[in-house]
Amino acid sequence: MSTPIIELRHVSKRFGPTHDAAARLARNLATRFGRPAPNETVRAVDDVSFAVARGEVVGLVGESGCGKSTVGRMVAGIMPTTEGQVLYQGQEVASLSADKRREAKLKIQMIFQDPYASLNPRLRVSEIVGEAPRVHGMIKGGFDDYLDAQLRRAGLDPAFKRRYPHQFSGGQRQRIGIARALAVQPDFLVCDEAVAALDVSIQAQILNLFMDLRQELGLTYLFISHDLGVVEHLSDSVLIMYLGRIVESAPTEEVFLRANHPYTQALLSEVPRIEARKRRFTAIKGEIPSPLNPPSGCHFHPRCPHAMPRCSVEVPAFKEVAPGHHSACHLND
Ligand SMILES: Nc1ncnc2c1ncn2[C@@H]1O[C@H](COP(=O)(O)OP(=O)(O)O)[C@@H](O)[C@H]1O
Ligand code: SF4
Ligand SMILES: [Mg+2]
Repeated sequence: MSTPIIELRHVSKRFGPTHDAAARLARNLATRFGRPAPNETVRAVDDVSFAVARGEVVGLVGESGCGKSTVGRMVAGIMPTTEGQVLYQGQEVASLSADKRREAKLKIQMIFQDPYASLNPRLRVSEIVGEAPRVHGMIKGGFDDYLDAQLRRAGLDPAFKRRYPHQFSGGQRQRIGIARALAVQPDFLVCDEAVAALDVSIQAQILNLFMDLRQELGLTYLFISHDLGVVEHLSDSVLIMYLGRIVESAPTEEVFLRANHPYTQALLSEVPRIEARKRRFTAIKGEIPSPLNPPSGCHFHPRCPHAMPRCSVEVPAFKEVAPGHHSACHLND
């Protein structure tokens, strides 16, 4: 097998206690309402390993707070790991020289949920999209030719390049975010809930744009979503995360036909599809536990309809249950 474009090896991320005024206030409130005080360490990501092959689209799915964005940020090199390694084309990014690290960072771009929050409102589209490639000396011909090509590729009319972000619709703003990311000629995109804030009809347009760009530019994606339904049609494989850990990984079709992990089965029951509903999975009961104080053993045991005594004691191993299909559940023993 060729070297994966991105590989995570036993990556963990912990957020330590913070001491600013907001954190102190949160601690006081929590104590007053009898909740565990948020002054401990959060294990946002706990021993996560996976690899993404060039040209592949990998979906990363799980409920809010399970650590998806933290994984995405570490992949994109905008947040360091606490433990473990992130490799880009077989080389550990953290150990590269400053120049090489900057290069690798440009090759991995991130697209965010809220394009408005991630676009500087005081800059014109021409600056938002054109600035980085200009600074990095990527523009060989004329600036305007380069800029117009970037905008057209993302489905934007170059006639509007003098405008500001607020003069565009939500879908168009996401296209600006995409044009900005692609303008620095990346080969890997981390799309973090990139369509979650958009109307359903616009979601479909943006998802189609991602798939067209994949073909046109040979891009590789880590596609993060809380919604299994969103990743179904565009991912080759899916990683399911629960409270900082990957609990199942498989080719997308396998996940939908033969989900192994009870958590994945519960997620599937929430996807509004007739076929899934017919399978009558048990819906996820109970609230997602706090990552500050995750349940012992299998993190899912308080909500799992199949939980056994050992589930609250032993962490289940992540094992292959079929070719290319891994799951962490004691039911597989
Ligand atoms: N910068 C941070 N400082 C402290 N805690 C954080 C920070 N970023 C994320 N977290 C915590 O880490 C956990 C995972 O967050 P996140 O990666 O954003 O999850 P998701 O994207 O799946 O919703 C959450 O409990 C969140 O509160
Ligand atoms: S290990 Fe136990 S609690 Fe965890 S998913 Fe499997 S059966 Fe459920
Ligand atoms: Mg997130």
